[in-house]
Amino acid sequence: MIVRAEVAVAQLHSVRPSVLVTKRIFPEAIELLERYCEVDYEATDDGLPAEQLLRRARGKQAIVSQLTDKFTADVINQLQGIRVIANVAVGYDNVDLDAATRAGILVTNTPDVLTDTTADLAFGLLLAAARRIVEGHQFVHSGQWKNWAIDLLAGYDVHHKTLGIVGFGRIGRAVARRALGFSMQILYYDLERAPAEVEQELDARYVSLEELLRNSDFVSIHVPLNSNTRHLIGARELGLMKPTAILINTARGPVIDEEALVRALREGIIAGAGLDVFENEPRVHPGLLELRQVVLTPHIGSASIETRRKMCLMAVENALAALRGERPPNLVNPEAWKGN
Ligand code: NAP
Ligand code: GLV
Repeated sequence: MIVRAEVAVAQLHSVRPSVLVTKRIFPEAIELLERYCEVDYEATDDGLPAEQLLRRARGKQAIVSQLTDKFTADVINQLQGIRVIANVAVGYDNVDLDAATRAGILVTNTPDVLTDTTADLAFGLLLAAARRIVEGHQFVHSGQWKNWAIDLLAGYDVHHKTLGIVGFGRIGRAVARRALGFSMQILYYDLERAPAEVEQELDARYVSLEELLRNSDFVSIHVPLNSNTRHLIGARELGLMKPTAILINTARGPVIDEEALVRALREGIIAGAGLDVFENEPRVHPGLLELRQVVLTPHIGSASIETRRKMCLMAVENALAALRGERPPNLVNPEAWKGN
């Protein structure tokens, strides 16, 4: 007996839908896509400017995209026949979701598989900024190390300090789990209070954003970027933080007002920062480049080989599901789903 999924796959074989892949992804994901689809693959890291993207999307039914592809309302309104935009990222702020929903285009993301990897990097930035690991590396590497000294590159303790987590979702909670191993106290702020068992497991206390900022030694940002979170952390919020506090951002650059952050760091309003994301990537505010108390990484939160491979495969599986007429597993605009 042929099961329903096999019938669906057989249908896919006979129809051979067309898919645009906008940037280089892991080869396993391309191989999977090519089993069922005609693939127009932009196998570079450059990305496609809007007019090229629109031209190449003509006659296609799916797009496998990345967070650097900007699907504005204007772009979306010019797409024709596209059933799904499968983003290789958990964040989907690069897609105007309302416009996609109005156009009946399904949008998918890649949650969960990158949670621990991104939390690892957030915690790595926290440790690196607090214990001046990058400065230490540069000091040794450049031959400046002449002697042991009592306060040489002395930083801040991490253990037993207070960590404030802004956005207590998948990654925020995974960071809290790591902090437990360092005997840290955890405060969190989110739109909603977490279930009691989660608070208990992570020994986390729900507080207002203001209380979190006033009382935390480290503040780690894990909210998605949207109209409510853009510049959630600005001059006023930075001013509430301790002068010894360190701010970590592995979410999205525009959640922090970068200009205000540079000022706060220069004026000693806060002590340091660990940043993986920036307001105008890949451009970094020149002020950040001049500050020794800042650790910077190039948006590599989820960048382990294993995780990036999983993300690529997951995005392709989302696209294939939509092309088979099934509800994709990681649909972020269920309002666009009309059923089969
Ligand atoms: P998630 O599970 O959805 O967690 C986000 C949390 O923030 C949710 O609990 C959400 O609440 C909450 N939130 C939303 N708006 C808020 C607001 N205005 N104030 C306070 N809390 C708010 O997402 P995730 O998987 O943890 O990922 C978080 C973000 O990290 C992604 O959106 C992405 O931008 C970023 N990221 C970056 C990297 C990197 O490479 N650096 C890697 C992975 C992810 P609701 O659920 O109620 O909305
Ligand atoms: C990376 O930034 C992601 O959102 O997955």
